Amino acid sequence: MEETTCSVNAETVTEETIDKYADYINPSLANIMRFAGFAEVECCAEGVTVTDYSGNKYLDCLGGYGVFSLGHRHPEVLAAVKDQLDRIPLSSKLFFNKPSADLAETIARITPGRLQFSFFCNSGAEAVEGALKAARMYTGRTEIISTVGGFHGKSMGALSATGRDVYKSPFQPLVPGFIHVPYNDASAVEKVISKNTAAVIVEPVQGEGGIRVPSTDYLPRLRELCTKHGALLIMDEVQTGLGRTGKMFACQHWGVEPDIITMAKALGGGVMPIGAFVGTPEVWDAVFRDNPLMHTSTFGGNELSCRAALAAIEVTEREHLPERAAELGKKFIAGLDEVRTKHPKALHEVRGLGLMIGVEFTHEDIGELVIAGLSRRGVIAAYTLNNPKVIRFEPPLIITEDQIGWVVSAFDESVAEALIMLEGIV
Ligand SMILES: Cc1ncc(COP(=O)(O)O)c(C=O)c1O
Repeated sequence: MEETTCSVNAETVTEETIDKYADYINPSLANIMRFAGFAEVECCAEGVTVTDYSGNKYLDCLGGYGVFSLGHRHPEVLAAVKDQLDRIPLSSKLFFNKPSADLAETIARITPGRLQFSFFCNSGAEAVEGALKAARMYTGRTEIISTVGGFHGKSMGALSATGRDVYKSPFQPLVPGFIHVPYNDASAVEKVISKNTAAVIVEPVQGEGGIRVPSTDYLPRLRELCTKHGALLIMDEVQTGLGRTGKMFACQHWGVEPDIITMAKALGGGVMPIGAFVGTPEVWDAVFRDNPLMHTSTFGGNELSCRAALAAIEVTEREHLPERAAELGKKFIAGLDEVRTKHPKALHEVRGLGLMIGVEFTHEDIGELVIAGLSRRGVIAAYTLNNPKVIRFEPPLIITEDQIGWVVSAFDESVAEALIMLEGIV
C-alpha cells in the first residue's frame, strides 16, 4: 500500500472533503460526523486495515456492515476484476454473458435446498424488491409478513418490509399489504398468516435490529407455517450471507430451506457492488415463463461484478471462511463477555453468531462514547441502525486471533473510560 498517497496534504484533503459533504451531499451528516469525532477521510485499505489521510490506521470491525468478509482489496478478487476490465466490464445486454452464467451456477450449488435460479442486481434493497415481486407473482396474493426491527433496505418496497417507523413515516403511504409481527415469535406469524399471505420475509439473524439470534425452533416453524399456508419463505441473507455467521448461509444453522434467498454485501468480495435474489424453479417459472423481461436491471449481472463474486466465493470456500468465522466468533464473543462481567453497569449482553456480534449497553450514551473510544484506539465499530443501544462487530473473516484479542482490550479500555465520563449518569 502506498503510504505517501495518504499523507499528502492530509489536512487540506480532509477539510475540503468534509466541506463538500456539507455543501453537496448531506450537511447534517457532515455535522454529526464532525461532532462525533469521525472527521477523517479514508484514503486506502488493505486486509483488515483502513488508513485515513492523516495516516491513522484502523482495524475495520464494522466491515462496511458486512461487505468486507474477505477484507479490503483481496488480491484474487482484484485480479479477477482487473482481468475482466481488459475484456468487457459491462454487459452489452444483447448477448449472453459468461461470468453471469458461471456465477448463477455457483450460487445454485452453494445455496440450500432447491434454490436454483439467480437474478442479479446491484444492492440489497434491489434484491429484496425482486424477491417481494416474485412472491406476489408466484402466489397471486398481496400480503407480506415481516418483523418489527427487521431491516430490508430503504427503497419503497424494501422499506415497506423494514420494521422501524422512523424511516417509514415520512413516506407513507408505502406499499400496502405489509404486516409486522415481533421477531423470534412464530406464534405471532401463525396468528396472521392466511390464504392472503404471499410471503414471510425474515432475517435469519436480525442485523440492524440489534444482532438478534432467534431461538432454535423459530425458522423451522416459519418454514412449516409457510408450507402449510402456501406462502413463500423469503430469507433475507443480505447481511448474514456468504459465511458471516459460521455457515455459508445463516439459515443452514437450522436446516431451513427458503423458497427465495436474498444476498448482496459480501457477494462482491468487498470490491464490486452486487446483489441477487435466488429462487426455486417454480418461482422462476411463475415470474419469467410468459415474459422473460418481467423483472430487469440494466447494470445487474454485469461482468465485473460477477467476476468479483465468483472470485469471492472461490476464496470463501477454499479458505473455509465460514468455519473460521464460527471458531473465531466464539472466541470474540467470549472475550467481549469477559469485559461484560467486569462492567455489568455498562453492558447488558454480548450475543451473536460467527463473526456477526452485538454488544448491548444498558444505556444509549455508553455506546456512543465506546464507539468514539474505539476509534481513538484504532478500531472501527458502529451502531445497529434500528437499535442504538447495540453496537456491532463484523470484522473481516480473515481477522486473526491476536487481532481479536487486541480489539477486546481496546473495547475494555473504552468501556472503562466511558464509565468515568458518565459517572453519576449511568
Ligand atoms: C438484511 C438486510 N437486507 C437488506 C439490506 C439493504 O441493503 P442495501 O443497503 O445494499 O440496499 C440490508 C442493509 O443493511 C440488510 O442488512
